[in-house]
Amino acid sequence: MKPLLETRDLYLAFGGLVVADHIDFQLHRGERLAVIGQNGAGKTTFINICTGYLKPQSGDVWFGDRRITAMPPRRIVRLGMGRSFQLPQLFTEHTVRECVQIAAASQDRRLSFLRAMDSVVDRSEVESTLELVGLREDARRMSSDLPEGKRKLLDIAMALVLHPQLLIMDEPTSGVASEDKHDLMRIIMSALDQRHVTSWFVEHDVDIVARYATRVAAWISGAIVADGMPDGVLQDPRIRSEILGA
Ligand SMILES: Nc1ncnc2c1ncn2[C@@H]1O[C@H](COP(=O)(O)OP(=O)(O)O)[C@@H](O)[C@H]1O
Ligand SMILES: [Mg+2]
Repeated sequence: MKPLLETRDLYLAFGGLVVADHIDFQLHRGERLAVIGQNGAGKTTFINICTGYLKPQSGDVWFGDRRITAMPPRRIVRLGMGRSFQLPQLFTEHTVRECVQIAAASQDRRLSFLRAMDSVVDRSEVESTLELVGLREDARRMSSDLPEGKRKLLDIAMALVLHPQLLIMDEPTSGVASEDKHDLMRIIMSALDQRHVTSWFVEHDVDIVARYATRVAAWISGAIVADGMPDGVLQDPRIRSEILGA
């Protein structure tokens, strides 16, 4: 089966620091990939290259049949690749509902930001997405008033309202109290299942990785050093000593 996302020989260095060291990577439809690795390993850089925020010095990114290397992020989103950020990118002057509305309208290049607030957007789509991530009751709150877990959910709702085939999440549980992480992941993963979205998330908490991933890829110094079933990767002696600190 053709991969949903593929990178071939992807390379990027910042000065002398190699952050993507000839990465060959494939993600298939239906996978839930957890990416692990110490801070600075290149996990976010890899996401930035795949989503068009950074241009690699060599190599290519394919999304299905399309070569998307260095395409603008907005075009990549339109092709069906969503993304959420470690620090949620919300419209802080707007309510939760408006944030999802604006995100929904942003797909249409004819719409300006302000027109997005008109009734052009399919309201039921916005409401069902709010419902999907459990934010219906928060719809009228200002996005800036939300606690961190709900900010993460709103960022994800803003991606899901565009019906992506793939959602890439950079540390969806960071900044959330450890006792709330499982609830947050349960909501996110159930939403992704209902919409049949393939996913990839960066996560430091081993319990979360073991519970929610079908596959784990481990990053060290810009390279994938282990990639496979969660049990195998999480038990790997090198991964345990160099990444998990066991
Ligand atoms: N725009 C940039 N310019 C220079 N160095 C960068 C830039 N972005 C990231 N880096 C460096 O690249 C390395 C990898 O960063 P990053 O991909 O954010 O790691 P991770 O997400 O795994 O913590 C880090 O050492 C970081 O400081
Ligand atoms: Mg990062």
